[in-house]
Formats: sequence, structure tokens, C-alpha cells
Amino acid sequence: MTNHSHIMTEMDKAGIERAARLLKAGDIVAFPTETVYGLGADATNDTAVARIFEAKDRPQFNPLIVHFSTVEAVWAETVATDLARTLAAAFWPGPLTLVLARSETCRLSPLVSAGLDSVAVRVPAHAGAQTLLQAAGTPIAAPSANRSGAISPTSADHVLASLGNRVPLILDGGSCTVGVESTIVDATCDPPVILRPGGVSMEALKDVIGNIAAALGSAEDAPKAPGQLLSHYAPEARVRLAATSVRDGELLLGFGQVSEATFNLSPSGDLLEAAANLFAMLHKADAMRPACIAVSPIPERGLGRAINDRLRRAASPR
Ligand code: TXA
Ligand code: MG
Repeated sequence: MTNHSHIMTEMDKAGIERAARLLKAGDIVAFPTETVYGLGADATNDTAVARIFEAKDRPQFNPLIVHFSTVEAVWAETVATDLARTLAAAFWPGPLTLVLARSETCRLSPLVSAGLDSVAVRVPAHAGAQTLLQAAGTPIAAPSANRSGAISPTSADHVLASLGNRVPLILDGGSCTVGVESTIVDATCDPPVILRPGGVSMEALKDVIGNIAAALGSAEDAPKAPGQLLSHYAPEARVRLAATSVRDGELLLGFGQVSEATFNLSPSGDLLEAAANLFAMLHKADAMRPACIAVSPIPERGLGRAINDRLRRAASPR
């Protein structure tokens, strides 16, 4: 076996401290939960969250699950409805993810919500994940730690095979006990809707809240078609892509060395920085109520593909 001692480490005190340092510095770390391994980043740091999408090589910004060490910490960032409190009391810590409205004072990066006004949250039961969350001192955004299109990892070796050259550290906590992803329940509506079946059964949910629906055509890893989901947030303004000049009534969202930009996704042409700024700047630009937001050309490589996908959706007729 190849020696990967530089990126694989036991999930002991030293390993967890190393991981916490990386997370605090805005880097990504793979770690086990009771369901599957996650690829984590500080959920309050835009650039750190953008690194997750970069590593997964996903051509779209799908929203991510944010992990918390306590239920109280969840309520600081989300709207705690009675329904949410009931589900939390019954199933947290554990393999249940709740989609909730972001609170007015929510500090989570808009990138974890892919620009939506909701966020998926959970409190994991895994002891090592709990210790890591406490050591990092911040909520951790983490999709499953696999490259886009690959199956979810339930051991550190799976992560190594899928992301070994793209992640600075993998915490090895052995095999995941649940082995399937968390059940995702959209609790922004009443009755709530199961978006993805997983570690908590439909029967167990029904025992607690009685009235719950399964999403039609719910599919693994695609609880709502991304197009459907992401169309929830579209700017009021029209959007014009690949703009090389600014026309009357337009506001320019720049990229690279352009003059006349009201906001610039990355003056130096850095795609990671542009991804980190995308949703916040789209919101700010839209709040200025221009007739049209013109956007500089963005190269179609790396994170540029996900940025362009999002911008094309915003620009498509509606
Ligand atoms: O067990 C799990 O849930 C694992 C571990 C690491 O916690 N995580 C996981 O994450 O499976 P991921 O990113 O592979 O799947 C998250 C799913 C995505 O399919 C996404 O569409 C959905 O959650 N999701 C996230 N935020 C959402 C939101 N605001 N509204 C609707 N769906 C959302
Ligand atoms: Mg996944």
C-alpha cells in the first residue's frame, strides 16, 4: 500500500487538533460522521466553502449540509419553528437533516445555500465529528467526501481513492456505522416533506410528527432537481452574460481587470475568489435595482463552470 501518512491521520486528539487548525485557516478537511464521510469547511467562510466545490469538481453549485455541535447553535442561524424544535428534540444528534429558513442574523456563507434563503442543517451523533466541531469552534459545511458523480464514502480509504490528491487531510475514524446518508426533511413547509430517504426511517418520522409527505420522484443526491431548486433565487434584474461593455441602465458585475465594474467578483481573475463572492454580489447588485446586471466573461474551467451554470440560470428567460 502507498504511504499516505501525510494526509491520512488517526482521529485522535492530535489529528483532530490538526484538522481544527486547517478548518480555522479556511482549508478543507475530510472527516467521518455516523452516516458517510464529509468534506468539511468553515461554513461561515465564503472562500473555504468555495474550496469544497473546487475539490469535488462539480459543475453546479448545489446547496450543502451544515453540521453543528449543538442544537442551540443551529437556532442562532436558522428560524426555529415548533416543527423544527420537535424534530430536533426527537432526532438530534443523529442522521436527520432539516431544511430551515435562514435567520435574519445568519452568519453562514450564502454559498452553502447556493443563494437560497433556506439552509440544510444537522447535529451529527459521531463522537469524533462532535469533538472536531467543538475544536473548530464553527459550524462545518460538508457534502459527502467524494468527487462529483461518485458514490458516497463510508471509510477513509474511499475518500482517499476519490479525493486523495485534492484534500490536505483525511481524518480516519473507521467505517461509518449508519453507512447511508442522512434523511433530509424540508421543514420550511407544513406538512414537512422528505426530500431524501436516509438514516432516519419514514416510520420513525411519522411516529413523531404524524403528517409527513415523501417528495415525488425523490432521487438519491438530487432531492429537488437542481434547476427547480435554484430557480427559487433569480435576481429581479435581467442578466446579460459575457459583457465586454456596459450599456444604458446596466450595472457591471466584473471579473478580472475591467473598468466600470460596480462590483468585481475577482479583480485578479481568481475563480475561487469569484465563487466565494458570487451570491453575495448578485444580491447586492440586484438590491441596487438596475434594469440589467451585465457580467464579464468568466472562463469555462474549474470553478468557472459552476459560476457560469449559475449565471446562465439567472440569465435565462423567466
Ligand atoms: O449524511 C449526510 O447527509 C452527509 C454527511 C456528510 O452529513 N452529507 C451529504 O451531503 O450527504 P450532500 O451534499 O452529498 O447532500 C446534501 C443534499 C444535496 O442533495 C442538496 O441538494 C440537499 O442536501 N440540500 C442542501 N441544502 C438544501 C436546501 N437548502 N434545500 C433543499 N435541499 C438542500
Ligand atoms: Mg453526496
